[in-house]
Amino acid sequence: MLADVVDDLRCPVCTGPLALRDRDLRCAAGHAFDIARQGYANLLPGSARPGTADTPGMVTARAEFLGAGHYAALTDALAVRLAGARRVLDAGAGTGHYLAAVLSGDATGIALDVSKYAARRAARAHPRAGAVVADLWRPLPVRDASMDAVLNVFAPRNAAEFRRVLRPDGALHTVTPGPGHLAPLIADLGLLSVDADKTARTDARLAGHFTLDARTTLQAAARLTHAEIATLVGMGPNAHHIDADELRRRVAKLTDPYEVPLAFVLSVHR
Ligand SMILES: C[S@@+](CC[C@H](N)C(=O)[O-])C[C@H]1O[C@@H](n2cnc3c(N)ncnc32)[C@H](O)[C@@H]1O
Ligand SMILES: [Zn+2]
Repeated sequence: MLADVVDDLRCPVCTGPLALRDRDLRCAAGHAFDIARQGYANLLPGSARPGTADTPGMVTARAEFLGAGHYAALTDALAVRLAGARRVLDAGAGTGHYLAAVLSGDATGIALDVSKYAARRAARAHPRAGAVVADLWRPLPVRDASMDAVLNVFAPRNAAEFRRVLRPDGALHTVTPGPGHLAPLIADLGLLSVDADKTARTDARLAGHFTLDARTTLQAAARLTHAEIATLVGMGPNAHHIDADELRRRVAKLTDPYEVPLAFVLSVHR
């Protein structure tokens, strides 16, 4: 709930502390931010919205796909790695699936995402997680040196802001797609391909603020039904690129179930 994390948040306008009231979060200067009925706070000042927010359909598909456990190997690995972190920021949290899995003991977590549909889900992902709508490309509404860990799974990265909100001994945990991730499916369906240099580009972005501390590639596989393949496609950018009927035709040509390799690059930067 927001009450668990309000002390780690800050006003996105003046950077002052925020107090939790009945229907909003408010700073001493009077800047107020609504708390939605579903429990998340909108900390996006002004009306500009980046076009990269996940749509309702993408969020529903993501919740369904992750809830079915297809990426459980990744979820479990992250839970082990972040077990000691008492304060966690999930930057680009989506449904809050991974944040919920990494909060152990009395740890609290902030699920930050620019999509209000994602924030709605994330607000009920875990009892000690608070969800906020915010833009990763702007100064984050999170206090300086307040976080033990920043988690970033398949989402945009703002190195300077991640550095600012982390404690000096804190760590940034990123997940990027590894070589071969979903490769046969991408080829068979003619999907947008995963950027092969994603991990290298991530490193370049973080340089100057972080140095790489550890990196492993986690290999796994998923057996997917045709319906699950449609859900997987629906949670990504391909949802906008292929017509639904055409996708159905292409999926119908695959074996059912269809086994697909997964590869996740887990990196720790300090
Ligand atoms: C591929 S999804 C990953 C979500 C989650 N980490 C997961 O793996 O399930 C990318 C997420 O980043 C969010 N996002 C995109 N641009 C953003 C931005 N500028 N600021 C904050 N979140 C953003 C999207 O709304 C979406 O939820
Ligand atoms: Zn303020």
